[in-house]
Amino acid sequence: MSETPLKIAVAGLGTVGAEVVRVLRTNSELFAARAGRPLQVTDVSARNRDRDRGLDLSPYIWHDDAAAMAAACDADVVVELVGGADGPAHALVQKALSSGKDVVTANKAMLAKHGVSLAALAEDGGQILAYEAAVAGGIPIVKALREGLAGNNVSGIYGILNGTCNFILTTMRETGRSFADVLKEAQDLGYAEADPAFDVDGNDAAQKLAILASIAFGIPVNEAAVYVSGITDVSAEDIAFAEELGYRIKLLGIARRTAEGIEQRVHTVMLSKTSPLGQIEGVTNAVEVEGDSVGRVVLTGPGAGAGPTASAVIADLVDIAAGRRAPVFGVPHTSLRPASLIDIEKHRGAYYLRLMVSDQPGVIAGIAGALGRHGVSIESVLQRGRNPGEVVPVVMVTHECEEAAMSAALAEIAGLPAVAEPPTLIRIAEV
Ligand SMILES: NC(=O)c1ccc[n+]([C@@H]2O[C@H](COP(=O)([O-])OP(=O)(O)OC[C@H]3O[C@@H](n4cnc5c(N)ncnc54)[C@H](OP(=O)(O)O)[C@@H]3O)[C@@H](O)[C@H]2O)c1
Repeated sequence: MSETPLKIAVAGLGTVGAEVVRVLRTNSELFAARAGRPLQVTDVSARNRDRDRGLDLSPYIWHDDAAAMAAACDADVVVELVGGADGPAHALVQKALSSGKDVVTANKAMLAKHGVSLAALAEDGGQILAYEAAVAGGIPIVKALREGLAGNNVSGIYGILNGTCNFILTTMRETGRSFADVLKEAQDLGYAEADPAFDVDGNDAAQKLAILASIAFGIPVNEAAVYVSGITDVSAEDIAFAEELGYRIKLLGIARRTAEGIEQRVHTVMLSKTSPLGQIEGVTNAVEVEGDSVGRVVLTGPGAGAGPTASAVIADLVDIAAGRRAPVFGVPHTSLRPASLIDIEKHRGAYYLRLMVSDQPGVIAGIAGALGRHGVSIESVLQRGRNPGEVVPVVMVTHECEEAAMSAALAEIAGLPAVAEPPTLIRIAEV
């Protein structure tokens, strides 16, 4: 055991930062034994020095300016737990790396936006930039993908990456309530922000997916390459039909190698309810990785919260203290190769389609005709209620087809006089 500690400066002492400091203190002997040297917090910074954090900060040097701390303090590692893609977080990480310090961060937004330039800054200067906590909280997916599964050519990653969305979808299914109603409950329980858009529109999951895709496929992180749509349009009706058909509706992040390139998308899918991801409930996250040697591996666990996120931050610190290092995105930044962007219209898969139609003779034939003209074949049809003249739901599951064909057929179907509402389309995922 070396006597030389790894000196740590922590920027941001909120939910995650305060917990990191606390756990480092509680389990200091254990971590020192694992790392071969003590892990010692020396410096801290946050916005408000007087805020009660339930922590004795007197052993640490306080800094009002986090970026100045990152540049000038005597620490070996700066832990960035401030948050935000730009602003103080980005500034302090740049300062830390360019002044020869390693960085640990939980900041997916910053990595999704500046990941490549920060990897270049770190690797060119010989520093480490570690970010296990940035994706799926307590699940060690970054290390699993970058190191544990390094013996694979990865063909796909499938992730339930946003606990708020999964909680809402699970509760909608369990209670039959509407999206708006359950969102309100999620906000009351603290699972959803006052402004929930970033989560429910799929952007949070897209940032995490872009990071995982970079590691899995050796491509530059590129949030803009991710097709995103969220869960706001999911209806209680579709959730009930999904159940009947043997599916669960999930917000899934998918990054997949295809003949055309790497597809990256976040949207709702129908998943078999007996599949590993179909069974992930509530705020839990899960990631399934498909590799040529290993087959399929699923990691599941808490995707957020003080403890799980601190667990991931500290794992990075133990690695740094022990001298374990890996390129930021699995390969050196100079080896990252841009992937061609794949238009969602090129996606191939099966679809769930719900139409609200007036119940009259020939309606189904008209819909089937439109699908057939675009080469879309129907696997099954479910028709509810028989009240001539009234609007009833008709649900169809198609065989695999190209999305462009499905879109063209839908445009035609939406124009049929008997179709009362815009059709609902949900992709079916074979995971
Ligand atoms: N919370 C989670 O479950 C979770 C999960 C995964 C990843 N993350 C990521 O972890 C990071 C931190 O999240 P959090 O939930 O801990 O946030 P938080 O509770 O809002 O804490 C943010 C901290 O940053 C400090 N801060 C804000 N502006 C600052 C500045 N200019 N200089 C120095 N300090 C500043 C705040 O100071 P004051 O306390 O003085 O206001 C606060 O201590 C984010 O990147 C987030 O995405 C969080």
